[in-house]
Amino acid sequence: MVDILASMKALPLFAACVLAAASYPPIPSDKTTPVQQRLAVKGPNAVSVGWNTYQKLAQPCVQYGTSKTSLTSMQCSTSSITYPTSRTYSNAVTLTGLTPATTYYYKIVSTNSSVEHFLSPRVPGDKTPFSINAIIDLGVYGADGFTIQGDQTKRDIIPTIDPSLNHTTIDRLARTVDDYEFIIHPGDLAYADDWFEKPKNLLDGKNAYEAILEQFYTQLAPIAGRKPYMASPGNHEVACQEVPVLTLACPEGQKNFTDFMNRFGQTMPSSFASTSANQAAKVNANKAAALAKPPFWFSFEYGMVHVAMIDTETDFANAPDQPGGSSGYLNASPFGTANQQLDWLAADLASVDRTITPWVIVGGHRPWYTTKGSSPCDSCQKAFEPLLYKYGVDLAIFGHVHNSQRFLPVNNSVADPAKLNNPKAPMYIVAGGAGNIEGLSSVGGNYSTNVFAYADDFSYASVSFQSANNLKVDFIRSSTGDVLDSSVLYKKHDQQFVVQ
Ligand SMILES: *[C@@H]1O[C@H](CO)[C@@H](O)[C@H](O)[C@H]1NC(C)=O
Ligand SMILES: *[C@@H]1O[C@H](CO)[C@@H](O)[C@H](O)[C@H]1NC(C)=O
Ligand SMILES: *[C@@H]1O[C@H](CO)[C@@H](O)[C@H](O)[C@H]1NC(C)=O
Ligand SMILES: *[C@@H]1O[C@H](CO)[C@@H](O)[C@H](O)[C@H]1NC(C)=O
Ligand SMILES: *[C@@H]1O[C@H](CO)[C@@H](O)[C@H](O)[C@H]1NC(C)=O
Repeated sequence: MVDILASMKALPLFAACVLAAASYPPIPSDKTTPVQQRLAVKGPNAVSVGWNTYQKLAQPCVQYGTSKTSLTSMQCSTSSITYPTSRTYSNAVTLTGLTPATTYYYKIVSTNSSVEHFLSPRVPGDKTPFSINAIIDLGVYGADGFTIQGDQTKRDIIPTIDPSLNHTTIDRLARTVDDYEFIIHPGDLAYADDWFEKPKNLLDGKNAYEAILEQFYTQLAPIAGRKPYMASPGNHEVACQEVPVLTLACPEGQKNFTDFMNRFGQTMPSSFASTSANQAAKVNANKAAALAKPPFWFSFEYGMVHVAMIDTETDFANAPDQPGGSSGYLNASPFGTANQQLDWLAADLASVDRTITPWVIVGGHRPWYTTKGSSPCDSCQKAFEPLLYKYGVDLAIFGHVHNSQRFLPVNNSVADPAKLNNPKAPMYIVAGGAGNIEGLSSVGGNYSTNVFAYADDFSYASVSFQSANNLKVDFIRSSTGDVLDSSVLYKKHDQQFVVQ
């Protein structure tokens, strides 16, 4: 509501810009040119390659191999899909049988493409140290990006950034691309549904929405085409966000996670089969694989970590984005049967053999621990927190609130007395300060278990799996690379299966 009013105030400006409209990128004359490339960990020995084209491909194909000059393998699919308001087709191919932790070169088959490369996933159980980044609430830059003026109630610290400048978080991710092995992005990707924040888009929402998606995923391609980019949903993927008055005019592509499903539905993994010798673990992992619903809820394993990505938007009691939920959407969800997501999470977490993957992290969009500048997701806490505690999740990563925050390990709002020294409760962080058109959220009042909070500039979290027992979380200031906060969580991990 507030947002549309802010935009209305800009109407005189809008009149002057009436000729300007959606800022679509140019369409390449060779319409087989791959754009918006994105990789994902698809299985223990598999990587999916997703990309868009401005024409439907009869048979999307990717050539690959371990030598840049000899791409000896090729995989193809028939998956080239679109939806009514999109200009592009989402293509997806899975590369299987990969030797673990090996540099592969790949070329998306096109009359206009180049050879790129990636590191194949580490097998579950590989104890080699590595780092990942958690990037949440990252939006487009340029004509439709960054910051808006006004509306000080919601965004009291709005960085004024020249839209011609590069996004400092994307820039930092590009500069440090050799320092991390994959990225998790649990929700709020392009902020395409915020098209109405720019007066030039007001009469052209359908195109503006698509134009922002095209811009954003093009800007992300140098990162997501090099590193697995693991995405799950946030409230900005759902529907006609924050424009209730325009719900009736909501374009087709903006409803019910349409673009998100087209883009990531073929590329995100299901839960993996267990490599544990334990029979119950195998049964639980198979159950989890059957209940997983990528790209909404799913898990994967990589070296010494098991990562479960949850959907805080839909598919549990009082989920905020389901019909009747607090967001007020009518046209979204569900994606599973009544208890499917929580049954999946229980089976998935129960399957984790800590002798193989000592670390378990959960990534989701809406936090239930956040400083007093913003409201916690109580229904998320009710649904998910008991499972996170029961199965000894080590670290839980959220966004939605546009800043960086770190909490003590905590259960039911009570800090674990062990603090970072082998706690039973999960450690919680918010890494939602990556930068988007809405600007940063103020930290607001302190919350008792909070130990770090930052909202002065764009930032993100780097998580390093140093050993089976030590995990380091650094918050990085995007513009400078400075480490704003650093902590090491020590866990004994002396139980093969944690149930508490
Ligand atoms: C080939 O691809 C590049 C970007 O990868 C693009 O700039 C160029 O326009 C494309 N050429 C044609 C003929 O479409
Ligand atoms: C933006 O990034 C591009 C590509 O990395 C670079 O060539 C250009 O100089 C950057 N512009 C600014 C203003 O930093
Ligand atoms: C949203 O999409 C899912 C999957 O296609 C479908 O099952 C569900 O019914 C849709 N929800 C609405 C409200 O249309
Ligand atoms: C952990 O929190 C749950 C509520 O989410 C509560 O029911 C349970 O008693 C707590 N466990 C401990 C050991 O504090
Ligand atoms: C919040 O309050 C707690 C308890 O008083 C304190 O330990 C912590 O440092 C405070 N956090 C911040 C970010 O000021």
